[in-house]
Amino acid sequence: MTSAPRKPDETVDDRPVLVVADLRKQYADGTHALAGISFELRRGEVLAVLGPNGAGKTSMVEIVTGSRTRTSGTVELLGADPADRSALQRLRARVAVVAQSAAHLRYLTVRETLAMHRAYYTAPRSVGELLALVGLEDSADQKVRQLSGGQQRRLDVAVALVGRPEVIFLDEPTTGFDPAARRRSWEVIATLARMGTSIVLTTHYMEEASTLADRVLVLRAGEIVGEGTPQELAGSLALETRISARLPLGLADVELPPLVRAGLGGGDGRDGHFEVRTVEPTATLAALTSWAIAHGHELVELRVEPPSLEESYLALTGERGGVDVAAAVEVDA
Ligand SMILES: Nc1ncnc2c1ncn2[C@@H]1O[C@H](COP(=O)(O)OP(=O)(O)O)[C@@H](O)[C@H]1O
Ligand SMILES: [Mg+2]
Repeated sequence: MTSAPRKPDETVDDRPVLVVADLRKQYADGTHALAGISFELRRGEVLAVLGPNGAGKTSMVEIVTGSRTRTSGTVELLGADPADRSALQRLRARVAVVAQSAAHLRYLTVRETLAMHRAYYTAPRSVGELLALVGLEDSADQKVRQLSGGQQRRLDVAVALVGRPEVIFLDEPTTGFDPAARRRSWEVIATLARMGTSIVLTTHYMEEASTLADRVLVLRAGEIVGEGTPQELAGSLALETRISARLPLGLADVELPPLVRAGLGGGDGRDGHFEVRTVEPTATLAALTSWAIAHGHELVELRVEPPSLEESYLALTGERGGVDVAAAVEVDA
């Protein structure tokens, strides 16, 4: 699937799709939901906004897509200010939002729902294409109320795609899904990304962000506490890489090189299993392997594990666990 062909007079637009500068939101009750955040979304990029409940993710999405007012700061979405009603109207077909909770008419079928939304656009996608994009071909004639949670969410996405948007905002698209439903949704989002759609995705699932996103923003209490690729985040936090292996003859009788010995810890000790944690993985691995070669030792099951996005997230937000207990209670079949 390729993106729409460019018109001859159209120049390649490499300006960011979204530019947010010092965005603040204080609700009437005094809650500071956003405490001055700045970021960009580049064309064709998938940006994951990670953060615990209450971090300000939904407030951000609603403000930058024009459904909520901001207290201060600037937002430029496809060159326009979403707070400007007439600009918002012009952007309507180019930007889509899948809100955290969307409502459809429950007595309509999937096909009827999509047909109804097609009427709002001048060059809508066909119902067949939409069904295929989100994998709902087999449910086309089912009533919305008969759909599972995961299927309803995919219908939300199909509705968002009717007008061929260039930019799509997905607010927690898979919260409460079972793993299979989550994976199906990831495939849909990955397909959109391959088509060149610029995507902002909010989530509190690390795996979702690391699977789908080019870049991650970590939001905590209305502030951006980390930004970059998952690798950059881990790098900026100087998190440790884990190197592990087994020495079948046991650790007791060998003299490990100093760099390896310094990071020794973990490992279950069984069958000579050991683990080294280090912020200098290249040098440590070189020391370990050259030592092993020089002494004729085989490093069985040698593994190098970079720090995970989850470790970065926990370090940045001070959250206890990446696994959301409420989300483990599955709603999808
Ligand atoms: N309409 C509102 N009025 C007052 N406070 C709100 C409102 N909406 C959200 N908040 C508060 O703003 C903060 C950010 O909420 P929200 O943007 O929904 O975060 P998230 O989507 O990351 O869970 C929270 O403290 C929340 O309670
Ligand atoms: Mg939210």
